[in-house]
Amino acid sequence: MSREAQRRVGGFLEAVPIPMLAVDAQARTIGANAAAVAVFGANLLDRPFVTVLRHPGVVQAVDWVIAPELHAAPASDPDLPPPAEGGVALRAQFSADGRRILAEVAVSPLPALIGRGALVAILDRSVTEEAEQMRRDFVANVSHELKTPLTALLGFIETLRGPAREDANARGRFLDIMEREAMRMNRLISELLSLSRVQAEERRRPSEPVDLAALLRSVLATMAPAAAAAGVAVTAEGLERPVVLPGDADQLTQVFQNLVENALKYGRSGGVLRVAMTEIAHEPQLRGPAWAVAVEDRGDGIDEIHLPRLTERFYRVDAHRSREEGGTGLGLAIVKHIISRHRGRLRIESRRGEGTRFTVVLPQGLDRG
Ligand SMILES: Nc1ncnc2c1ncn2[C@@H]1O[C@H](COP(=O)(O)OP(=O)(O)O)[C@@H](O)[C@H]1O
Ligand SMILES: [Mg+2]
Repeated sequence: MSREAQRRVGGFLEAVPIPMLAVDAQARTIGANAAAVAVFGANLLDRPFVTVLRHPGVVQAVDWVIAPELHAAPASDPDLPPPAEGGVALRAQFSADGRRILAEVAVSPLPALIGRGALVAILDRSVTEEAEQMRRDFVANVSHELKTPLTALLGFIETLRGPAREDANARGRFLDIMEREAMRMNRLISELLSLSRVQAEERRRPSEPVDLAALLRSVLATMAPAAAAAGVAVTAEGLERPVVLPGDADQLTQVFQNLVENALKYGRSGGVLRVAMTEIAHEPQLRGPAWAVAVEDRGDGIDEIHLPRLTERFYRVDAHRSREEGGTGLGLAIVKHIISRHRGRLRIESRRGEGTRFTVVLPQGLDRG
């Protein structure tokens, strides 16, 4: 194929926003746009196509498009947009760019005036596919979390109708359990709604002035009875003076209530809870001054392997313990999204047997980030 043809193909490919390659009649690469180079690496030209994209189905499609008289026609995936006349559309999974890529690939003949050959266009669906998988997991998780208390409720209704009908003692006990299970479902639904509300407005950064010190004092006052009941001594530092920053007071209250509640639930064996606010003159990650609020306990701590996943929806270190405590596994996911809406950071440090510290870092002003 002439240099001139290569040049013409190259100019055409550059206009395409997705990875696209052209191959000649010998199935050698004669063109690749910048998007293709980003995925498959440099030095793609004059290489056998099979060394660029190793996928039997795609290679077969390329062979057929170049010389249909020599090869059997591969089936085009009926769910994909129909390819150009004489072309094939298929799904393919292959490794490139140091990762697994799941893509829709369209192979079509080169325009006749350029010569015999094929065009290969690659639509990367990995991200969409991953999002879709996450959505499926989420629905499965929610269904499971709702089904568990619902099954318990139905079981007790059955028992109350049958064996326990005349047993006033059992009836009282069962109704208590039923109430607890119904409350768990109620809490789960409130938290799901809260999570979706926070996510929906995550891009809109709050700007109302909030006195963080007063907010923290009020959270601690609200939680004082629970702390006393758990036998936990609470200390507060740095909350004496007003500290005003842009924020959403309700959501920030939710953040600290969640963190304090967790410390009382999972860290109460240490007997102490410390809430401390400090000023950071320059927080590199936020590129500016910040306030840091640490909520720490001396409880059992969390094994290191769990730390990166702790803020995932429904992730718990000990699902049984969390359920016993009335938890839903959504608290820290909500916390994470609220902090992200405030353009802040959440840090989690923990050592097994020594305790846990959650630190919320919030920017002082609106000028950056
Ligand atoms: N202070 C803490 N000490 C030990 N483990 C904690 C602490 N805070 C959170 N965790 C762990 O993180 C998990 C997730 O917390 P969260 O999202 O608030 O869900 P929930 O409290 O509803 O279980 C908890 O189930 C618990 O295993
Ligand atoms: Mg919680």
